[in-house]
Amino acid sequence: MKLASIVGARPNFMKLAPLARVLASRPDVEHFVVHTGQHYDASMSDDFFRDLAIPEPRYHLAVGSGSHAAQTAAVMQRLEPVLIDERPDVVIVYGDVNSTAAAALTAAKLGLRVAHVEAGLRSGDRSMPEEINRLVTDAIADLLLAPSPDAVANLRAEGHPDHRIHFVGNIMIDVLVDTLARPRPAGASPRPSTPYLVATLHRPANVDDPARLAEIMTALDQLSAETPVVFPVHPRTRQRLAARATRSRVQLVDPLGYPDMAALVAGARGVITDSGGLQEETTYLGVPCLTVRPNTERPITCTLGTNRLVPAEQRAIVAQTREALRARPAAAPVIERWDGHTADRIASLLCDGVAPH
Ligand code: UD1
Repeated sequence: MKLASIVGARPNFMKLAPLARVLASRPDVEHFVVHTGQHYDASMSDDFFRDLAIPEPRYHLAVGSGSHAAQTAAVMQRLEPVLIDERPDVVIVYGDVNSTAAAALTAAKLGLRVAHVEAGLRSGDRSMPEEINRLVTDAIADLLLAPSPDAVANLRAEGHPDHRIHFVGNIMIDVLVDTLARPRPAGASPRPSTPYLVATLHRPANVDDPARLAEIMTALDQLSAETPVVFPVHPRTRQRLAARATRSRVQLVDPLGYPDMAALVAGARGVITDSGGLQEETTYLGVPCLTVRPNTERPITCTLGTNRLVPAEQRAIVAQTREALRARPAAAPVIERWDGHTADRIASLLCDGVAPH
Protein backbone atom coordinates (compact mmCIF):
# COMPACT_ATOMS: atom_id res chain seq x y z
CA MET A 1 0.00 0.00 0.00
CA LYS A 2 1.32 3.43 -0.95
CA LEU A 3 0.36 6.54 1.03
CA ALA A 4 1.33 10.16 0.37
CA SER A 5 1.22 12.92 3.00
CA ILE A 6 1.08 16.47 1.69
CA VAL A 7 2.15 19.16 4.16
CA GLY A 8 3.12 22.79 3.79
CA ALA A 9 2.73 24.92 6.89
CA ARG A 10 3.86 24.76 10.49
CA PRO A 11 0.62 23.37 11.98
CA ASN A 12 0.70 20.52 9.41
CA PHE A 13 4.11 19.27 10.49
CA MET A 14 3.19 18.30 14.05
CA LYS A 15 0.08 16.48 12.81
CA LEU A 16 2.17 14.49 10.33
CA ALA A 17 4.84 13.45 12.87
CA PRO A 18 2.88 10.80 14.86
CA LEU A 19 1.31 9.26 11.75
CA ALA A 20 4.65 9.11 9.91
CA ARG A 21 6.12 7.24 12.88
CA VAL A 22 3.32 4.65 13.00
CA LEU A 23 3.36 4.15 9.22
CA ALA A 24 7.16 3.70 9.24
CA SER A 25 6.74 0.73 11.58
CA ARG A 26 4.59 -1.12 9.00
CA PRO A 27 6.52 -3.16 6.43
CA ASP A 28 3.41 -3.41 4.23
CA VAL A 29 3.21 0.37 3.76
CA GLU A 30 5.21 2.79 1.62
CA HIS A 31 4.63 6.29 2.94
CA PHE A 32 6.22 9.37 1.43
CA VAL A 33 5.99 13.08 2.22
CA VAL A 34 5.54 16.03 -0.11
CA HIS A 35 6.43 19.46 1.35
CA THR A 36 4.72 22.24 -0.59
CA GLY A 37 7.05 24.93 0.78
CA GLN A 38 4.22 27.21 1.99
CA HIS A 39 6.37 27.74 5.08
CA TYR A 40 10.09 27.85 4.37
CA ASP A 41 11.92 29.65 7.23
CA ALA A 42 14.02 27.22 9.28
CA SER A 43 12.11 28.17 12.43
CA MET A 44 8.76 27.52 10.70
CA SER A 45 9.72 24.31 8.90
CA ASP A 46 13.13 22.54 9.06
CA ASP A 47 13.32 22.69 12.86
CA PHE A 48 10.03 20.76 13.09
CA PHE A 49 11.22 18.01 10.76
CA ARG A 50 14.43 17.65 12.80
CA ASP A 51 12.91 17.87 16.30
CA LEU A 52 9.95 15.59 15.54
CA ALA A 53 12.04 13.13 13.46
CA ILE A 54 9.76 13.52 10.44
CA PRO A 55 11.15 11.74 7.37
CA GLU A 56 12.82 13.93 4.76
CA PRO A 57 10.23 14.87 2.10
CA ARG A 58 10.59 12.91 -1.14
CA TYR A 59 9.46 16.05 -2.99
CA HIS A 60 9.84 19.72 -2.16
CA LEU A 61 7.56 21.97 -4.22
CA ALA A 62 9.05 25.26 -2.95
CA VAL A 63 5.92 27.33 -3.63
CA GLY A 64 6.79 30.02 -1.04
CA SER A 65 4.55 32.96 -0.11
CA GLY A 66 2.00 34.69 -2.32
CA SER A 67 -1.63 35.68 -2.55
CA HIS A 68 -4.11 32.94 -1.67
CA ALA A 69 -4.85 32.24 -5.33
CA ALA A 70 -1.20 32.27 -6.36
CA GLN A 71 -0.13 29.99 -3.50
CA THR A 72 -3.02 27.55 -4.01
CA ALA A 73 -2.46 27.44 -7.76
CA ALA A 74 1.28 26.88 -7.38
CA VAL A 75 0.71 23.90 -5.08
CA MET A 76 -1.77 22.39 -7.55
CA GLN A 77 0.45 22.88 -10.58
CA ARG A 78 3.55 21.44 -8.92
CA LEU A 79 1.81 18.59 -7.09
CA GLU A 80 -0.10 17.23 -10.09
CA PRO A 81 2.90 15.65 -11.90
CA VAL A 82 4.13 14.14 -8.62
CA LEU A 83 0.80 12.42 -7.98
CA ILE A 84 0.55 11.27 -11.62
CA ASP A 85 3.99 9.67 -11.30
CA GLU A 86 3.51 8.13 -7.88
CA ARG A 87 -0.21 7.15 -8.02
CA PRO A 88 -0.55 6.68 -4.22
CA ASP A 89 -3.52 4.65 -2.95
CA VAL A 90 -4.44 7.43 -0.52
CA VAL A 91 -3.38 11.08 -0.34
CA ILE A 92 -3.42 12.34 3.25
CA VAL A 93 -3.96 16.05 3.90
CA TYR A 94 -3.87 17.80 7.27
CA GLY A 95 -5.69 20.71 8.89
CA ASP A 96 -6.92 23.79 7.06
CA VAL A 97 -4.10 25.68 5.40
CA ASN A 98 -3.91 26.63 1.72
CA SER A 99 -1.71 23.60 0.99
CA THR A 100 -4.43 21.32 2.42
CA ALA A 101 -7.20 22.49 0.08
CA ALA A 102 -4.85 22.70 -2.92
CA ALA A 103 -3.60 19.13 -2.40
CA ALA A 104 -7.11 17.74 -1.84
CA LEU A 105 -8.36 19.35 -5.06
CA THR A 106 -5.41 18.08 -7.08
CA ALA A 107 -5.71 14.52 -5.77
CA ALA A 108 -9.50 14.33 -6.09
CA LYS A 109 -9.38 15.48 -9.72
CA LEU A 110 -6.88 12.72 -10.49
CA GLY A 111 -9.33 10.22 -9.04
CA LEU A 112 -7.12 9.49 -6.02
CA ARG A 113 -8.61 8.77 -2.62
CA VAL A 114 -8.18 11.66 -0.17
CA ALA A 115 -8.07 11.35 3.63
CA HIS A 116 -8.49 14.56 5.64
CA VAL A 117 -6.94 14.59 9.11
CA GLU A 118 -8.87 17.11 11.27
CA ALA A 119 -12.09 17.00 9.25
CA GLY A 120 -15.32 18.65 10.36
CA LEU A 121 -14.04 21.68 12.29
CA ARG A 122 -16.20 24.73 11.52
CA SER A 123 -16.07 28.28 12.82
CA GLY A 124 -19.08 29.32 10.71
CA ASP A 125 -17.00 32.36 9.70
CA ARG A 126 -16.29 32.44 5.98
CA SER A 127 -14.12 35.52 6.29
CA MET A 128 -11.41 33.17 7.61
CA PRO A 129 -9.38 31.63 4.76
CA GLU A 130 -9.06 28.47 6.84
CA GLU A 131 -12.86 28.04 6.94
CA ILE A 132 -12.98 28.04 3.12
CA ASN A 133 -10.14 25.51 3.07
CA ARG A 134 -12.00 23.26 5.54
CA LEU A 135 -15.25 23.36 3.57
CA VAL A 136 -13.54 22.67 0.24
CA THR A 137 -11.39 19.85 1.62
CA ASP A 138 -14.22 18.06 3.40
CA ALA A 139 -16.51 18.39 0.37
CA ILE A 140 -14.14 16.28 -1.75
CA ALA A 141 -12.33 14.03 0.74
CA ASP A 142 -13.25 10.32 0.80
CA LEU A 143 -12.21 9.75 4.40
CA LEU A 144 -13.19 12.41 6.92
CA LEU A 145 -11.03 11.86 10.01
CA ALA A 146 -12.71 13.86 12.76
CA PRO A 147 -10.94 14.94 15.97
CA SER A 148 -13.99 15.45 18.21
CA PRO A 149 -17.71 14.66 18.49
CA ASP A 150 -18.69 18.21 17.45
CA ALA A 151 -16.71 17.77 14.22
CA VAL A 152 -18.62 14.53 13.53
CA ALA A 153 -21.90 16.39 14.14
CA ASN A 154 -20.90 19.17 11.71
CA LEU A 155 -20.12 16.67 8.97
CA ARG A 156 -23.42 14.84 9.48
CA ALA A 157 -25.32 18.14 9.44
CA GLU A 158 -23.72 18.97 6.09
CA GLY A 159 -24.99 15.68 4.71
CA HIS A 160 -21.75 13.72 4.48
CA PRO A 161 -22.58 10.02 4.52
CA ASP A 162 -21.72 8.10 7.68
CA HIS A 163 -19.38 5.69 5.89
CA ARG A 164 -17.01 8.56 5.14
CA ILE A 165 -16.90 9.94 8.70
CA HIS A 166 -14.51 8.40 11.24
CA PHE A 167 -14.06 9.70 14.77
CA VAL A 168 -10.34 8.99 15.13
CA GLY A 169 -9.51 11.61 17.78
CA ASN A 170 -7.10 14.50 17.96
CA ILE A 171 -3.66 13.84 16.50
CA MET A 172 -2.27 17.08 18.01
CA ILE A 173 -2.57 15.41 21.37
CA ASP A 174 -0.46 12.44 20.15
CA VAL A 175 2.52 14.65 19.48
CA LEU A 176 2.00 16.68 22.65
CA VAL A 177 1.85 13.58 24.88
CA ASP A 178 4.89 12.07 23.18
CA THR A 179 6.95 15.27 23.33
CA LEU A 180 6.25 16.00 26.98
CA ALA A 181 7.12 12.39 27.93
CA ARG A 182 10.62 12.70 26.47
CA PRO A 183 13.54 14.20 28.39
CA ARG A 184 14.20 17.76 27.26
CA PRO A 185 17.11 17.80 24.83
CA ALA A 186 20.41 19.47 25.69
CA GLY A 187 20.30 23.02 24.34
CA ALA A 188 16.54 23.37 24.88
CA SER A 189 15.41 26.90 25.76
CA PRO A 190 15.14 27.29 29.52
CA ARG A 191 11.65 28.04 30.84
CA PRO A 192 11.25 31.16 32.98
CA SER A 193 11.71 30.25 36.65
CA THR A 194 8.94 32.58 37.84
CA PRO A 195 5.25 32.51 36.79
CA TYR A 196 4.65 33.70 33.24
CA LEU A 197 2.04 33.97 30.50
CA VAL A 198 2.50 32.95 26.85
CA ALA A 199 1.10 34.94 23.94
CA THR A 200 0.95 34.23 20.20
CA LEU A 201 -0.82 36.13 17.41
CA HIS A 202 -0.74 35.61 13.67
CA ARG A 203 -4.28 35.80 12.23
CA PRO A 204 -4.57 38.48 9.55
CA ALA A 205 -7.74 39.75 11.29
CA ASN A 206 -5.68 40.58 14.40
CA VAL A 207 -2.27 41.58 13.09
CA ASP A 208 -2.96 43.26 9.75
CA ASP A 209 -5.12 46.01 11.29
CA PRO A 210 -2.74 48.39 13.13
CA ALA A 211 -5.43 49.65 15.53
CA ARG A 212 -6.44 46.15 16.53
CA LEU A 213 -2.85 44.99 16.91
CA ALA A 214 -2.13 48.04 19.08
CA GLU A 215 -5.14 47.25 21.27
CA ILE A 216 -3.98 43.66 21.86
CA MET A 217 -0.33 44.63 22.40
CA THR A 218 -1.36 47.27 24.94
CA ALA A 219 -3.31 44.63 26.84
CA LEU A 220 -0.30 42.29 26.83
CA ASP A 221 1.93 45.12 28.02
CA GLN A 222 -0.46 45.83 30.88
CA LEU A 223 -0.61 42.16 31.87
CA SER A 224 3.22 42.03 31.74
CA ALA A 225 3.32 44.43 34.68
CA GLU A 226 1.68 41.68 36.79
CA THR A 227 3.01 38.48 35.16
CA PRO A 228 5.75 38.45 32.51
CA VAL A 229 4.47 37.65 29.00
CA VAL A 230 6.63 35.58 26.63
CA PHE A 231 5.59 36.08 22.98
CA PRO A 232 7.13 33.87 20.25
CA VAL A 233 6.53 35.97 17.14
CA HIS A 234 5.30 34.57 13.79
CA PRO A 235 7.02 36.12 10.72
CA ARG A 236 3.80 37.86 9.60
CA THR A 237 3.40 39.44 13.04
CA ARG A 238 7.11 40.36 13.17
CA GLN A 239 6.64 42.42 10.01
CA ARG A 240 3.60 44.21 11.45
CA LEU A 241 5.23 44.86 14.83
CA ALA A 242 8.32 46.28 13.13
CA ALA A 243 6.06 49.06 11.82
CA ARG A 244 5.15 50.06 15.41
CA ALA A 245 7.66 52.29 17.14
CA THR A 246 6.54 51.59 20.69
CA ARG A 247 8.28 50.23 23.74
CA SER A 248 6.75 47.22 25.43
CA ARG A 249 7.43 45.03 28.45
CA VAL A 250 6.32 41.98 26.47
CA GLN A 251 9.24 39.57 25.82
CA LEU A 252 9.25 39.12 22.04
CA VAL A 253 11.21 36.03 20.98
CA ASP A 254 11.70 34.18 17.68
CA PRO A 255 9.27 31.36 16.83
CA LEU A 256 10.06 28.30 18.96
CA GLY A 257 10.49 24.72 17.89
CA TYR A 258 7.79 22.28 18.96
CA PRO A 259 9.49 20.78 22.08
CA ASP A 260 10.36 24.26 23.42
CA MET A 261 6.86 25.58 22.75
CA ALA A 262 5.17 22.54 24.30
CA ALA A 263 7.29 22.88 27.44
CA LEU A 264 6.68 26.63 27.61
CA VAL A 265 2.90 26.21 27.35
CA ALA A 266 2.81 23.30 29.81
CA GLY A 267 4.49 25.50 32.43
CA ALA A 268 2.50 28.68 31.77
CA ARG A 269 -0.07 30.24 34.09
CA GLY A 270 -2.14 31.11 31.02
CA VAL A 271 -2.04 31.57 27.25
CA ILE A 272 -3.39 34.42 25.12
CA THR A 273 -3.56 33.45 21.47
CA ASP A 274 -5.38 33.33 18.16
CA SER A 275 -3.94 29.93 17.23
CA GLY A 276 -6.11 26.87 16.66
CA GLY A 277 -3.67 24.27 17.98
CA LEU A 278 -2.98 26.14 21.21
CA GLN A 279 -6.68 26.09 22.09
CA GLU A 280 -6.47 22.30 22.04
CA GLU A 281 -3.08 21.94 23.74
CA THR A 282 -4.07 24.21 26.63
CA THR A 283 -7.31 22.29 27.05
CA TYR A 284 -5.43 19.00 27.28
CA LEU A 285 -2.97 20.52 29.77
CA GLY A 286 -5.61 22.34 31.83
CA VAL A 287 -3.89 25.70 31.23
CA PRO A 288 -6.29 28.69 30.98
CA CYS A 289 -6.51 29.97 27.39
CA LEU A 290 -7.86 33.28 26.10
CA THR A 291 -8.57 33.17 22.37
CA VAL A 292 -8.66 36.61 20.79
CA ARG A 293 -11.29 35.83 18.18
CA PRO A 294 -15.06 36.23 17.80
CA ASN A 295 -15.53 32.50 17.14
CA THR A 296 -13.74 29.18 17.16
CA GLU A 297 -13.85 26.05 15.04
CA ARG A 298 -12.91 24.17 18.21
CA PRO A 299 -15.91 24.86 20.50
CA ILE A 300 -15.21 21.76 22.59
CA THR A 301 -12.22 23.66 24.04
CA CYS A 302 -14.70 26.19 25.46
CA THR A 303 -17.49 23.82 26.52
CA LEU A 304 -15.27 21.14 28.09
CA GLY A 305 -11.85 22.79 28.15
CA THR A 306 -10.10 25.83 29.54
CA ASN A 307 -10.61 28.10 26.56
CA ARG A 308 -12.66 31.31 26.41
CA LEU A 309 -13.19 33.72 23.53
CA VAL A 310 -12.31 37.34 24.12
CA PRO A 311 -12.78 40.39 21.88
CA ALA A 312 -9.70 42.27 20.64
CA GLU A 313 -10.21 45.03 23.22
CA GLN A 314 -7.63 45.97 25.78
CA ARG A 315 -9.94 46.09 28.80
CA ALA A 316 -11.68 42.85 27.95
CA ILE A 317 -8.40 40.98 27.41
CA VAL A 318 -6.92 42.21 30.70
CA ALA A 319 -10.08 41.59 32.76
CA GLN A 320 -10.82 38.19 31.28
CA THR A 321 -7.23 37.01 31.60
CA ARG A 322 -7.20 37.93 35.29
CA GLU A 323 -10.52 36.13 35.75
CA ALA A 324 -9.37 33.01 33.84
CA LEU A 325 -6.20 32.77 35.93
CA ARG A 326 -8.27 32.98 39.13
CA ALA A 327 -10.69 30.31 37.86
CA ARG A 328 -8.02 27.84 36.73
CA PRO A 329 -9.43 24.31 37.10
CA ALA A 330 -7.76 21.97 39.58
CA ALA A 331 -7.47 19.23 36.96
CA ALA A 332 -7.32 19.11 33.17
CA PRO A 333 -10.51 17.92 31.42
CA VAL A 334 -10.63 14.50 29.81
CA ILE A 335 -11.89 14.55 26.21
CA GLU A 336 -12.78 11.37 24.37
CA ARG A 337 -10.02 10.18 21.99
CA TRP A 338 -7.65 12.99 22.91
CA ASP A 339 -5.48 10.25 24.29
CA GLY A 340 -2.26 9.98 22.29
CA HIS A 341 -3.49 7.07 20.09
CA THR A 342 -5.09 8.87 17.16
CA ALA A 343 -2.27 8.00 14.72
CA ASP A 344 -2.75 4.28 15.52
CA ARG A 345 -6.47 4.56 14.77
CA ILE A 346 -5.78 6.38 11.49
CA ALA A 347 -3.18 3.80 10.41
CA SER A 348 -5.57 0.91 11.19
CA LEU A 349 -8.30 2.59 9.19
CA LEU A 350 -6.14 3.45 6.16
CA CYS A 351 -4.09 0.28 6.01
CA ASP A 352 -6.37 -2.44 7.41
CA GLY A 353 -9.82 -0.92 6.85
CA VAL A 354 -10.51 -1.17 10.59
CA ALA A 355 -12.84 1.69 11.54
CA PRO A 356 -12.56 3.12 15.07
CA HIS A 357 -15.61 2.36 17.19
C1 UD1 B 1 -0.75 29.89 7.60
C2 UD1 B 1 -2.17 29.31 7.59
C3 UD1 B 1 -2.78 29.43 8.99
C4 UD1 B 1 -1.87 28.82 10.04
C5 UD1 B 1 -0.51 29.48 9.95
C6 UD1 B 1 0.45 28.94 10.96
C7 UD1 B 1 -3.35 29.57 5.44
C8 UD1 B 1 -4.45 30.28 4.76
N1 UD1 B 1 -3.04 30.02 6.67
O1 UD1 B 1 -0.89 31.29 7.86
O2 UD1 B 1 -4.01 28.74 9.01
O3 UD1 B 1 -2.43 29.02 11.32
O4 UD1 B 1 0.00 29.26 8.63
O5 UD1 B 1 1.65 29.61 10.93
O6 UD1 B 1 -2.79 28.64 4.90
N2 UD1 B 1 6.34 33.95 6.13
C9 UD1 B 1 7.71 33.95 6.33
N3 UD1 B 1 8.32 32.73 6.46
C10 UD1 B 1 7.67 31.56 6.36
C11 UD1 B 1 6.27 31.59 6.13
C12 UD1 B 1 5.63 32.78 6.03
O7 UD1 B 1 8.34 34.98 6.42
O8 UD1 B 1 8.30 30.50 6.49
C13 UD1 B 1 5.66 35.25 6.04
C14 UD1 B 1 5.52 35.74 4.63
O9 UD1 B 1 5.61 37.12 4.62
C15 UD1 B 1 4.11 35.35 4.26
C16 UD1 B 1 3.40 35.50 5.61
O10 UD1 B 1 4.36 35.11 6.58
O11 UD1 B 1 3.57 36.13 3.26
C17 UD1 B 1 2.18 34.65 5.74
O12 UD1 B 1 2.48 33.27 5.45
P1 UD1 B 1 1.32 32.29 4.88
O13 UD1 B 1 1.82 30.91 4.80
O14 UD1 B 1 0.72 32.88 3.67
O15 UD1 B 1 0.19 32.35 5.97
P2 UD1 B 1 0.31 32.30 7.55
O16 UD1 B 1 -0.09 33.63 8.07
O17 UD1 B 1 1.60 31.72 8.02
